[in-house]
Amino acid sequence: MTTSSPQDALSLSVTEAAMRSFGTASNPRLGEVMALLVKHLHAFVQESHLTKAEWLQGLEFLTASAAITDGERNEFSLISDIMGISSMVDVVSQPVGGTPSSVLGPFHNHDSKVKPNGSDLTEGQAGERTWFKGRVVGVDGQPIPNAELDFWQNADNGLYPAQDPEQDPHNLRCKIKCEADGSFNLLTIRPHPYTVPTDGPVGALLRASNRGIWRPAHYHVIVSAPGHVGLVTELFPEGSDYIDNDTVFGVRPGLVVPFVPSHNKAVAERFGIETPFLEVNFEFCLVKAN
Ligand SMILES: [Fe+2]
Repeated sequence: MTTSSPQDALSLSVTEAAMRSFGTASNPRLGEVMALLVKHLHAFVQESHLTKAEWLQGLEFLTASAAITDGERNEFSLISDIMGISSMVDVVSQPVGGTPSSVLGPFHNHDSKVKPNGSDLTEGQAGERTWFKGRVVGVDGQPIPNAELDFWQNADNGLYPAQDPEQDPHNLRCKIKCEADGSFNLLTIRPHPYTVPTDGPVGALLRASNRGIWRPAHYHVIVSAPGHVGLVTELFPEGSDYIDNDTVFGVRPGLVVPFVPSHNKAVAERFGIETPFLEVNFEFCLVKAN
């Protein structure tokens, strides 16, 4: 690398020394990641001509983020989301050929109950009845037996159970064992757009940046099957508000799906619902694990 001034030479030596300092890490991957992080953060400081006042402001932002973070709320996860870093990690770790992955979000629970395929999750609550069905297949299009869906979404008021004491903690979430032919179906409601939390430092940053605070409506799904790479993804109703302006950059081509009015009387009778209801059909494609 060539340098053009004594200041450039000095900054180069600081960067090289800071990168080298992580070469002693006992875990080589830690050393590699930290050296690259230092390299790119130093380049950012140089390119932006970051002032001391701005650097202090950044430290105050991180300190305020730590203060609001607890077991229920993680402001650092939100920082990652609204900077598109969570989505970038998804993109670079995505195996080639399968359904696109998308962000996990903060409302996933590991303790969702396993319900029979074809379950009704609506349990009398408000919301546009939606029959969500499809298959889990491999990249060759063949069904994957013994796949499992972990499904969660927000209620008709736009809130997840963790945000709404009126809701049962298990409302509108479950695990479903798919059939031998990879098929699954369940009755749920249409999801709704919602805002990311705005009462902390990230909210202040979004306001200062004149940025949106909304996520488009979506279903969250984790698909897993023996011998295959697990998939964490989201499905977005075609035409949902904010589909082109997701504040966490989670929308991907191939994950925007039509919610089609259905007059299928047999399905309406099975669930005891009126026609037309909405129908969503999606094929999840998993890649084989190495
Ligand atoms: Fe969500």
